[in-house]
Amino acid sequence: MKITYKVLSLLLVLVTLVAGCSNAGKEEVASNVVEYTLTSGMDNGQMVYIGVGGGIDGVKNPMLSAYVGDLVRITLTSGEGVEHNISFPDFNSTSANVVGKGSSTMIEFAVDKGGKFSYFCTIPGHRQAGMEGKFEVSGQAVAAVPTSEAQGSFTGATGPIVVSGASATGADIVRDPTELPTPLPRREPQTVRIDLEAVEIEGQLADGTTYTYWTFNSKVPGPFFRVRVGDTIEVHMKNLTNSTMPHSVDFHAVTGPGGGATMTQTPPGEETTFTAKALNPGLYVYHCATPMVAQHIANGMYGMILVEPEEGLSPVEREFYVMQGEVYTTEAFGSTGHLTENIQALLNEDPEYLVFNGAVGALTEQKPLKANVGETVRIFFGVGGPNFTSSFHVIGEIFDRVYEQASLTSPALTNVQTTTVPPGGATMVEFGLEVPGRYILVDHALARLQRGLAGFLIVEGPENPEIFNGTPVPGSGH
Ligand code: CU
Ligand code: CU
Repeated sequence: MKITYKVLSLLLVLVTLVAGCSNAGKEEVASNVVEYTLTSGMDNGQMVYIGVGGGIDGVKNPMLSAYVGDLVRITLTSGEGVEHNISFPDFNSTSANVVGKGSSTMIEFAVDKGGKFSYFCTIPGHRQAGMEGKFEVSGQAVAAVPTSEAQGSFTGATGPIVVSGASATGADIVRDPTELPTPLPRREPQTVRIDLEAVEIEGQLADGTTYTYWTFNSKVPGPFFRVRVGDTIEVHMKNLTNSTMPHSVDFHAVTGPGGGATMTQTPPGEETTFTAKALNPGLYVYHCATPMVAQHIANGMYGMILVEPEEGLSPVEREFYVMQGEVYTTEAFGSTGHLTENIQALLNEDPEYLVFNGAVGALTEQKPLKANVGETVRIFFGVGGPNFTSSFHVIGEIFDRVYEQASLTSPALTNVQTTTVPPGGATMVEFGLEVPGRYILVDHALARLQRGLAGFLIVEGPENPEIFNGTPVPGSGH
């Protein structure tokens, strides 16, 4: 089928003959102008180029072809309003970005060598999300034409480099760990409306350092939702007009294809909806599931929903909401200024930053957890990831109860020091507070502490020398 299209398209597009360039003094061989028009779109959750007209009409990521000596002219139109471009790196030609539905751009380049090449969108993540096709050139390079291999070579994502730009400030994207709904009253199942809004936002990653986050409702993690088993959730997924990406949501609490992702692929400026019944109690992750999914998660699109069992959870004095994630930047950890995402580092699972609730210092200096001696605390802890398993631990405490893998219907494990939480997974831990002071939430893979992964639980109240007694060494950090 592809061969037929190729031949057809050749027949149809090679008809335009252009006379030799009229530039005086230049002897040029008459060459063909090969014209292709492509539009952008979504197909099965993938981003694609779609051929327009000729033999490539309607073909996704069509194979394009030309002969050595041809002049290739490519017109790209935005079919869905997402920002894109098209690049032929082997011919040193990249279009401007199309922004907004219906906008278009054009590039022209001379084909000076034969072979098999590719074209793709250079916007980070788009190539991996599907926007790539083949470009075949028949014939040999003309001897007289010097090849420009070196300058035409494409330099992809570079490895981490230390830069120290001017310090930058951005929006506060940190989700307060106390920002979660109170326990539900015992009631009959009902329909619960869930509003999600995809917001792409320049946020504060660390002191003096910003990053372009993709968020649910402007914070990382997204809102904490609380329903009971048997409830029906009515999800409204909105994507802001100024977004550069479609976004969606996959609820791990939902039974059905894609956890809702199949029904919520939402272009900028649009809204989608679906309903689902919460069949299984538990604490569940939700996340954006638009390709490249790992990129959307790394940029901040994850959160949790609690499906309470019919009888509810046992009462505690304090509940907290904490999620762990990774950030992959081109610049090294500690750089200031606006950092750029690094897709290659993401694919290599080599993050520069690891964070609780979105940013370095989120749960230490900015929004620490606070409680009092004598209280019992519960932490809803999840990993957005996308790649790293957490060895969740609170320095100086022992979990009295761990609801392993966030199973709320299995008996809790008791007296646990550290618990494993996989990406896209969660846990619920509970412990009583006997001794005042500062406790540190960590992933016990402690190298990650050096990349931003720490939180404080500050406990106030009377000393309890029978349980813990001594004189702290100055500067002990606790
Ligand atoms: Cu997304
Ligand atoms: Cu998932």
